[in-house]
Amino acid sequence: AANRTFTMIKPDAFEAGNTGAILKMIEEAGFKIVAMKATQLTPAIAGKFYEVHKERPFYADLCTYMSSGPIIAAILEKDNAVEDYRNLIGATNPANAAEGTIRKIFAKSIEANAVHGSDSDENAEIEGSFFFSQFERIG
Ligand code: CMP
Repeated sequence: AANRTFTMIKPDAFEAGNTGAILKMIEEAGFKIVAMKATQLTPAIAGKFYEVHKERPFYADLCTYMSSGPIIAAILEKDNAVEDYRNLIGATNPANAAEGTIRKIFAKSIEANAVHGSDSDENAEIEGSFFFSQFERIG
């Protein structure tokens, strides 16, 4: 649905114990968590999730990194969810992220950047369905 986005709390933020603080920021910004799970990706699953980046120079490292430890996957609901969530998380590179954004506060590097957020309504649906069946989400 167009009022939903998909997020992952990445291995760096999970390992650092920042899951609760990040979920608190998400809820305080007005998002409802309509699906959520903790899991660990294999390199192959990470590769499939990030397939759109497979020609990029950072792809192999990204797949290794995203499978290096547990993650949280979640679907978030709010009016204008995709754009509002991208504003909440800040720029991909934390060096460029605005003050007060999740990545500015928690990210360690452009790769270990605390969270993923979908970049379009279409990808939000694809990514949410990659992780959750219709019985594992609300609505
Ligand atoms: P994410 O929003 O999860 O989507 C792709 C990820 O690739 C991105 O966040 C970064 O963590 C990672 N990445 C690593 N290097 C780069 C780069 N040079 N440009 C864009 N993304 C990068």
